[in-house]
Amino acid sequence: MSLRDFSLKFKGQSACVVENVDLTVAEGEILCIVGESGCGKSVTAMALMGLLPQDAAKIPSGTMVFNGKTIDMTCERIPATMRGGDVAMIFQEPMTSLNPAFRIGDQIAEAVQQHKGCTRAQGRARALEMLIRVGLPSPEQRLDQYPHQLSGGQRQRVMIAMALANDPKLLIADEPTTALDVTIQAQILELIRDLQRDTGMGTIMITHDLGVVAEIADTVAVMYGGQVVERGPMAEVFEDPQHPYTIGLMDSVPRLSGPRARLTTIEGTVPSIDTMPQGCRFRTRCPFAAPLCNARPALANVSETHAVACHFAPLEQNLKVAQ
Ligand SMILES: Nc1ncnc2c1ncn2[C@@H]1O[C@H](COP(=O)(O)OP(=O)(O)OP(=O)(O)O)[C@@H](O)[C@H]1O
Ligand code: SF4
Ligand SMILES: [Mg+2]
Repeated sequence: MSLRDFSLKFKGQSACVVENVDLTVAEGEILCIVGESGCGKSVTAMALMGLLPQDAAKIPSGTMVFNGKTIDMTCERIPATMRGGDVAMIFQEPMTSLNPAFRIGDQIAEAVQQHKGCTRAQGRARALEMLIRVGLPSPEQRLDQYPHQLSGGQRQRVMIAMALANDPKLLIADEPTTALDVTIQAQILELIRDLQRDTGMGTIMITHDLGVVAEIADTVAVMYGGQVVERGPMAEVFEDPQHPYTIGLMDSVPRLSGPRARLTTIEGTVPSIDTMPQGCRFRTRCPFAAPLCNARPALANVSETHAVACHFAPLEQNLKVAQ
């Protein structure tokens, strides 16, 4: 799936909350989108699912290329048939997807019936197969239970089972482990990784947690203020972050090796969309900001695979940074 030049504006706001975002996730690949709260991760995911409120959200530019189809997002809705079929999404809170009033088996079976047009019995058989696949204990009994009879981690497994029951080609996971304790979080990440390897689906994982990125990502896109400021293979971005915002993020987690340019934790918070500075959106918090930064930096390659939106990238060459 490729998203090209995607911008999004909510009614009544002076600037786009997401601006000129390009993202690509290949089959069999996990792309992590990482960034602070409010930087536009979830609304981008919602747009890919066609779930944005149509009356409040305007898409001035954006093209999605998926499964051989090109969708002009400015005027076309993402077809409803894609949702829960070719593209599936899992959320931080499983109850966003699960209906408390229906038995688990019936909910998964119905999702399968809707998209595959199979019989109820076939849908139920698929539900059982999926509950086994996601490692839910006593899967036969669980089919007839309601969501409230499960723990948070078990509900998360059920939501994953439902999302994957129709063999999606793209899975979008929005902070799926944030609400879970650390051990369960690791199990769920491992499950997503395993399922993704088995099925070959592309996966977009949204997180603000660099530990999750290190655990699971093949590629990473760092967002700040609704823009992608750095992207590349996970190892390359982690070993050699080039955007001052990414470096600040990395400095708040222990380094694996080597000395590197020090930035103290990033001062301040992301400005609201109505007070977002012109030019580089990170300008008000960047220790290297200069008059040049009043102009917006383009996302430009620093290596064949690694791109950075900063006038001074690569930083070591262009700035005297204390080592
Ligand atoms: N329906 C809406 N109307 C107006 N503004 C909205 C709406 N939905 C989201 N926003 C704004 O869009 C911006 C991006 O929100 P989004 O939910 O994508 O952030 P996020 O990166 O997912 O943050 P978090 O890590 O907290 O989940 C925020 O400033 C938010 O207030
Ligand atoms: S363009 Fe300027 S303000 Fe923006 S990240 Fe680079 S140095 Fe900082
Ligand atoms: Mg979010």
